[in-house]
Amino acid sequence: MAATLIRNGRIVTAVDDYTADILVKDGKVETIGRNVQVGGDVEVHDAAGLLVLPGGVDVHTHLDWEFGPTYTVDTFGTGTKSAAFGGTTTLIDFCNQTAGFSPLKGLENWHKRRESACVDVGAHMIMLDVNDQSLIDMKTLIAKEGVTSFKLFMAYPGVLMVDDGALFKAMRVAGGNGAMTCIHAENGPVIQVLVQEAVAQGLKAPKYHASTRPSILEGEATHRAIRLAELAGAPLYIVHLSAGEALHAVTEARDRGIPVHAETCPHYLFLTAEEYERPGFEGAKYVMTPPLRDHHHQHQLWRGLKTDDLQVVSTDHCPFCFNEQPYGIKYSKQQGIDSFSKIPNGAPGVETRLPLIFDGAVTKNGMSINRFVEITSTAPAKLFGLFPRKGTIAVGSDGDIVLFDPKEQWTIRAAEQHSRIDYTLFEGRPVTGRVKKVFLRGQCIVDGANWRGREGMGQYLRRAESGAIR
Ligand code: URP
Ligand code: ZN
Ligand code: ZN
Repeated sequence: MAATLIRNGRIVTAVDDYTADILVKDGKVETIGRNVQVGGDVEVHDAAGLLVLPGGVDVHTHLDWEFGPTYTVDTFGTGTKSAAFGGTTTLIDFCNQTAGFSPLKGLENWHKRRESACVDVGAHMIMLDVNDQSLIDMKTLIAKEGVTSFKLFMAYPGVLMVDDGALFKAMRVAGGNGAMTCIHAENGPVIQVLVQEAVAQGLKAPKYHASTRPSILEGEATHRAIRLAELAGAPLYIVHLSAGEALHAVTEARDRGIPVHAETCPHYLFLTAEEYERPGFEGAKYVMTPPLRDHHHQHQLWRGLKTDDLQVVSTDHCPFCFNEQPYGIKYSKQQGIDSFSKIPNGAPGVETRLPLIFDGAVTKNGMSINRFVEITSTAPAKLFGLFPRKGTIAVGSDGDIVLFDPKEQWTIRAAEQHSRIDYTLFEGRPVTGRVKKVFLRGQCIVDGANWRGREGMGQYLRRAESGAIR
């Protein structure tokens, strides 16, 4: 296909709002204007009455990922198809170093898995083993592979956690070489004590996942990460922020001019710890880390989005089926049927992020559509070295475009989604606003309910310097 013309839509970016035509040629936006004239081989789409938005950028997914004794159930093929139906055309997924091996090997393994991707994907590297050689390898990843962000865990002792010294060393290398440090901020050793005590007392239902990971321990770890990053001179990004105490630490640091950034996720904005009271084992569906919190935390997260102390909403799509079949126990929450401590931590969400945030923030909460685009596309693209190729609609940008009907009312159903997972956190939730068509580099890959994309068409994104919105 030579070119795509999108006619008469209302183009909304983080800063613009106007009606025009967009011509995409060879994957890039070539012309934006009124009554753009074309001849020859051009696929024309009428966008009258629809919003024309930059493709969503989701910088937090775990596809085809080994996590302790568990595996996420989406392949890159299924997870990215699901993303596309939700209006997301760019993912930054987490690959990881294996303890004892180079992170370069981790990237190599990840590349094999990501070959089936249907949308464009970049990689963050999870560092597990911070030593002299892996610190050198970090520089190679930044300079040669375009991996310009690293995640380190302050939680999950014995599985993913690194100590403060390792954290500090990695931050210093990242910050000194143009990369962002992403932190999972929870105090892992103290959580471990609380989990062991609960299990010893026979408190094993899913709800004890939440009570053993109190918000104060997220606040403490966030504060510690910020102070270490400050000393290291490194930009910082707190992932999946859920707690008021953590947001307070981020706000305080930003007020002092420290380059600290943070994301939250739709489940923290719309759901509370009440979900853990569901009958039987149902609460296991909501076992993710950090856990769902109480209402007062939620109010603070909405405040943070308003005041830009939170810059991004991503999904932390980390899908484990509720049922054991058809994929098997290692992909399933049923591993934890006897104890919450064995429930795989993670939940799905890559297909519902844009409609949920549009409905909850724009339709019901007065957020501007510009700000909606900013937190779901532009800011993550800027923070992680993808802007202006991704995250906006401008001449020269990739033709990643979503046609969105702001008025359509529909209901979220797992059975209608495209992930391999067998549930959604939002089953039966009515929402207003729906993705109608999606274009990846000018090619229409979602057309209503029809899939026009294919596995393998997603490109690897070699990213530029990360760590700042300039
Ligand atoms: O529960 C979660 N969030 N699982 C994914 C791993 C992580 O910490 O991001
Ligand atoms: Zn995490
Ligand atoms: Zn995650």
